Amino acid sequence: INDQAQEYKKQAAEFAADMVQEGMIVGLGTGTTAVFLVQALGRRHREGLRFLGIPTSVATEKLALSLGIPLTSFAQHESVDLAIDGADEVERGTLNLIKGLGGALLREKIVAAASKKFIIVADESKLVDHLGEHTLVPVEATPFGWESTERHLGALGARVSPRRTPTGQFFVSDGGNLILDCNFGTISDPPAIEDAIRRVVGVVDSGLFTGLAAEAVICGPKGLAHLTV
Ligand code: A5P
Repeated sequence: INDQAQEYKKQAAEFAADMVQEGMIVGLGTGTTAVFLVQALGRRHREGLRFLGIPTSVATEKLALSLGIPLTSFAQHESVDLAIDGADEVERGTLNLIKGLGGALLREKIVAAASKKFIIVADESKLVDHLGEHTLVPVEATPFGWESTERHLGALGARVSPRRTPTGQFFVSDGGNLILDCNFGTISDPPAIEDAIRRVVGVVDSGLFTGLAAEAVICGPKGLAHLTV
Protein backbone atom coordinates (compact mmCIF):
# COMPACT_ATOMS: atom_id res chain seq x y z
CA ILE A 1 0.00 0.00 0.00
CA ASN A 2 2.84 2.34 0.88
CA ASP A 3 4.55 1.77 -2.47
CA GLN A 4 1.24 2.49 -4.16
CA ALA A 5 0.90 5.79 -2.26
CA GLN A 6 4.44 6.73 -3.31
CA GLU A 7 3.47 6.06 -6.93
CA TYR A 8 0.36 8.29 -6.57
CA LYS A 9 2.44 11.08 -5.04
CA LYS A 10 4.92 10.80 -7.89
CA GLN A 11 2.24 10.93 -10.58
CA ALA A 12 0.57 14.00 -9.04
CA ALA A 13 3.93 15.74 -8.62
CA GLU A 14 5.02 15.02 -12.19
CA PHE A 15 1.72 16.32 -13.58
CA ALA A 16 2.17 19.59 -11.67
CA ALA A 17 5.85 19.86 -12.66
CA ASP A 18 4.67 20.03 -16.28
CA MET A 19 2.74 23.22 -15.45
CA VAL A 20 5.99 25.11 -14.93
CA GLN A 21 6.74 27.33 -17.90
CA GLU A 22 9.83 29.07 -19.23
CA GLY A 23 10.95 32.03 -17.10
CA MET A 24 8.73 31.33 -14.09
CA ILE A 25 9.59 31.90 -10.44
CA VAL A 26 8.52 28.63 -8.80
CA GLY A 27 7.80 27.96 -5.15
CA LEU A 28 9.25 24.55 -4.26
CA GLY A 29 7.33 22.69 -1.56
CA THR A 30 8.52 20.42 1.22
CA GLY A 31 7.78 16.78 2.10
CA THR A 32 7.80 13.40 0.42
CA THR A 33 5.47 14.46 -2.42
CA ALA A 34 7.45 17.64 -3.05
CA VAL A 35 10.63 15.55 -3.39
CA PHE A 36 9.11 13.98 -6.53
CA LEU A 37 8.24 17.47 -7.76
CA VAL A 38 11.75 18.81 -7.27
CA GLN A 39 13.23 15.72 -8.95
CA ALA A 40 10.92 16.21 -11.95
CA LEU A 41 11.86 19.88 -12.12
CA GLY A 42 15.54 18.90 -11.94
CA ARG A 43 14.97 16.80 -15.07
CA ARG A 44 13.14 19.63 -16.83
CA HIS A 45 16.01 21.98 -15.93
CA ARG A 46 18.53 19.53 -17.41
CA GLU A 47 16.40 19.36 -20.56
CA GLY A 48 16.77 23.14 -20.94
CA LEU A 49 13.75 24.73 -19.23
CA ARG A 50 14.77 27.98 -17.56
CA PHE A 51 13.09 28.87 -14.27
CA LEU A 52 14.12 29.97 -10.77
CA GLY A 53 13.06 28.21 -7.58
CA ILE A 54 12.26 29.56 -4.12
CA PRO A 55 12.54 26.65 -1.66
CA THR A 56 10.21 26.33 1.35
CA SER A 57 12.74 24.59 3.62
CA VAL A 58 16.41 23.93 4.14
CA ALA A 59 15.81 20.31 3.05
CA THR A 60 14.22 21.37 -0.26
CA GLU A 61 16.96 23.95 -0.82
CA LYS A 62 19.62 21.24 -0.45
CA LEU A 63 17.79 18.86 -2.80
CA ALA A 64 17.23 21.57 -5.43
CA LEU A 65 20.87 22.65 -5.32
CA SER A 66 22.04 19.03 -5.63
CA LEU A 67 19.98 18.78 -8.84
CA GLY A 68 21.38 22.04 -10.23
CA ILE A 69 18.09 23.98 -10.02
CA PRO A 70 18.91 27.71 -9.86
CA LEU A 71 17.40 29.38 -6.80
CA THR A 72 16.36 32.91 -5.94
CA SER A 73 14.74 34.72 -3.01
CA PHE A 74 12.27 37.45 -2.10
CA ALA A 75 15.18 39.91 -2.06
CA GLN A 76 15.22 39.62 -5.88
CA HIS A 77 11.58 38.86 -6.66
CA GLU A 78 8.35 40.28 -5.28
CA SER A 79 6.16 37.33 -6.11
CA VAL A 80 6.13 33.70 -7.13
CA ASP A 81 4.40 32.74 -10.40
CA LEU A 82 3.51 29.23 -9.32
CA ALA A 83 4.00 27.49 -5.97
CA ILE A 84 3.58 23.71 -5.78
CA ASP A 85 3.48 21.91 -2.45
CA GLY A 86 2.12 18.85 -0.66
CA ALA A 87 -0.38 18.90 2.20
CA ASP A 88 -1.39 16.71 5.11
CA GLU A 89 -5.13 17.19 4.64
CA VAL A 90 -7.04 18.75 1.74
CA GLU A 91 -10.69 19.67 2.31
CA ARG A 92 -12.95 18.68 -0.57
CA GLY A 93 -14.67 21.62 -2.23
CA THR A 94 -12.78 24.46 -0.52
CA LEU A 95 -9.18 23.19 -0.86
CA ASN A 96 -8.53 24.51 2.63
CA LEU A 97 -5.51 22.67 4.01
CA ILE A 98 -3.64 21.41 7.01
CA LYS A 99 0.12 21.53 6.43
CA GLY A 100 3.22 21.39 8.54
CA LEU A 101 3.56 17.80 9.68
CA GLY A 102 7.07 18.19 8.30
CA GLY A 103 7.56 21.36 10.33
CA ALA A 104 8.12 23.71 7.37
CA LEU A 105 4.74 25.46 7.58
CA LEU A 106 5.95 29.04 8.04
CA ARG A 107 8.13 29.22 4.94
CA GLU A 108 5.52 27.23 3.03
CA LYS A 109 2.85 29.75 3.99
CA ILE A 110 5.01 32.76 3.12
CA VAL A 111 5.69 31.28 -0.33
CA ALA A 112 2.03 30.27 -0.85
CA ALA A 113 0.79 33.73 0.16
CA ALA A 114 3.25 35.39 -2.25
CA SER A 115 2.28 33.18 -5.19
CA LYS A 116 -0.01 34.08 -8.07
CA LYS A 117 -1.09 30.46 -8.19
CA PHE A 118 -0.72 27.82 -5.46
CA ILE A 119 -1.21 24.18 -6.44
CA ILE A 120 -1.37 21.20 -4.09
CA VAL A 121 -0.05 17.78 -5.07
CA ALA A 122 -1.13 14.76 -3.04
CA ASP A 123 -2.25 11.16 -3.04
CA GLU A 124 -5.93 10.53 -2.47
CA SER A 125 -5.52 9.61 1.21
CA LYS A 126 -5.09 13.34 1.96
CA LEU A 127 -8.61 14.28 0.77
CA VAL A 128 -11.09 14.80 3.64
CA ASP A 129 -14.62 16.12 4.04
CA HIS A 130 -13.59 18.19 7.07
CA LEU A 131 -10.14 19.27 8.21
CA GLY A 132 -8.92 17.78 11.48
CA GLU A 133 -10.33 14.33 10.73
CA HIS A 134 -6.93 12.64 10.93
CA THR A 135 -4.40 15.40 11.49
CA LEU A 136 -3.46 17.81 14.27
CA VAL A 137 -3.04 21.49 13.43
CA PRO A 138 0.64 22.42 13.82
CA VAL A 139 1.17 25.90 15.28
CA GLU A 140 4.58 27.54 15.06
CA ALA A 141 5.30 29.50 18.26
CA THR A 142 8.25 31.45 19.62
CA PRO A 143 10.25 29.50 22.24
CA PHE A 144 9.94 32.32 24.81
CA GLY A 145 6.77 31.90 26.83
CA TRP A 146 5.52 28.91 24.85
CA GLU A 147 3.78 27.58 27.97
CA SER A 148 1.63 30.73 28.00
CA THR A 149 0.98 30.44 24.26
CA GLU A 150 0.00 26.80 24.84
CA ARG A 151 -2.56 27.84 27.50
CA HIS A 152 -4.10 30.45 25.19
CA LEU A 153 -4.40 27.89 22.40
CA GLY A 154 -6.00 25.51 24.90
CA ALA A 155 -8.57 28.21 25.67
CA LEU A 156 -9.58 28.10 21.98
CA GLY A 157 -10.61 24.50 22.54
CA ALA A 158 -7.52 22.59 21.47
CA ARG A 159 -5.57 19.88 23.23
CA VAL A 160 -2.01 21.08 22.76
CA SER A 161 1.30 19.25 22.87
CA PRO A 162 4.73 20.61 21.96
CA ARG A 163 6.27 18.52 19.20
CA ARG A 164 9.34 16.55 20.23
CA THR A 165 12.05 14.70 18.36
CA PRO A 166 12.40 10.92 18.77
CA THR A 167 15.01 11.57 21.49
CA GLY A 168 12.59 13.75 23.48
CA GLN A 169 14.05 17.18 22.67
CA PHE A 170 11.79 19.98 21.48
CA PHE A 171 11.46 19.96 17.69
CA VAL A 172 12.91 23.23 16.34
CA SER A 173 11.70 24.61 12.98
CA ASP A 174 13.94 26.07 10.27
CA GLY A 175 12.97 29.47 11.71
CA GLY A 176 14.16 28.51 15.22
CA ASN A 177 10.63 28.18 16.65
CA LEU A 178 8.70 25.42 18.42
CA ILE A 179 5.75 23.54 16.96
CA LEU A 180 2.68 23.17 19.20
CA ASP A 181 0.48 20.41 17.76
CA CYS A 182 -3.17 21.31 18.41
CA ASN A 183 -6.00 18.82 18.41
CA PHE A 184 -9.19 20.73 17.59
CA GLY A 185 -11.07 17.61 16.53
CA THR A 186 -13.03 18.04 13.31
CA ILE A 187 -12.92 21.70 12.27
CA SER A 188 -16.22 23.12 11.03
CA ASP A 189 -15.01 26.67 10.28
CA PRO A 190 -11.33 26.59 9.24
CA PRO A 191 -10.99 30.34 8.42
CA ALA A 192 -12.35 31.29 11.88
CA ILE A 193 -9.95 28.91 13.65
CA GLU A 194 -7.04 30.11 11.51
CA ASP A 195 -7.80 33.73 12.51
CA ALA A 196 -8.27 32.89 16.18
CA ILE A 197 -4.94 31.03 16.31
CA ARG A 198 -3.15 33.89 14.58
CA ARG A 199 -4.42 36.38 17.18
CA VAL A 200 -2.68 34.51 20.04
CA VAL A 201 0.48 36.39 21.04
CA GLY A 202 3.53 34.16 20.63
CA VAL A 203 2.07 32.39 17.61
CA VAL A 204 4.03 32.97 14.42
CA ASP A 205 1.49 31.16 12.21
CA SER A 206 -0.36 27.88 11.87
CA GLY A 207 -0.60 25.00 9.45
CA LEU A 208 -4.20 25.92 8.59
CA PHE A 209 -4.05 27.31 5.05
CA THR A 210 -7.44 28.72 4.07
CA GLY A 211 -8.22 30.50 0.83
CA LEU A 212 -4.72 29.97 -0.57
CA ALA A 213 -4.82 26.89 -2.80
CA ALA A 214 -6.45 27.43 -6.20
CA GLU A 215 -5.95 23.92 -7.54
CA ALA A 216 -5.08 20.44 -6.36
CA VAL A 217 -3.71 17.53 -8.34
CA ILE A 218 -4.78 14.37 -6.52
CA CYS A 219 -3.84 10.85 -7.57
CA GLY A 220 -5.57 7.65 -6.50
CA PRO A 221 -6.63 4.25 -7.85
CA LYS A 222 -8.77 5.87 -10.55
CA GLY A 223 -5.92 8.06 -11.78
CA LEU A 224 -5.38 11.80 -11.62
CA ALA A 225 -8.00 14.34 -10.60
CA HIS A 226 -7.40 18.04 -11.16
CA LEU A 227 -9.53 19.91 -8.59
CA THR A 228 -10.20 23.63 -8.55
CA VAL A 229 -12.15 25.91 -6.20
C1 A5P B 1 5.80 20.15 5.44
O1 A5P B 1 5.92 21.04 6.49
C2 A5P B 1 4.39 19.84 5.16
O2 A5P B 1 3.52 20.92 5.11
C3 A5P B 1 4.23 18.98 3.94
O3 A5P B 1 3.90 19.74 2.82
C4 A5P B 1 3.18 18.01 4.21
O4 A5P B 1 3.52 17.41 5.45
C5 A5P B 1 3.02 16.97 3.12
O5 A5P B 1 4.07 16.07 3.15
P1 A5P B 1 4.06 14.71 2.37
O6 A5P B 1 4.08 15.04 0.94
O7 A5P B 1 5.33 14.06 2.83
O8 A5P B 1 2.85 13.98 2.82
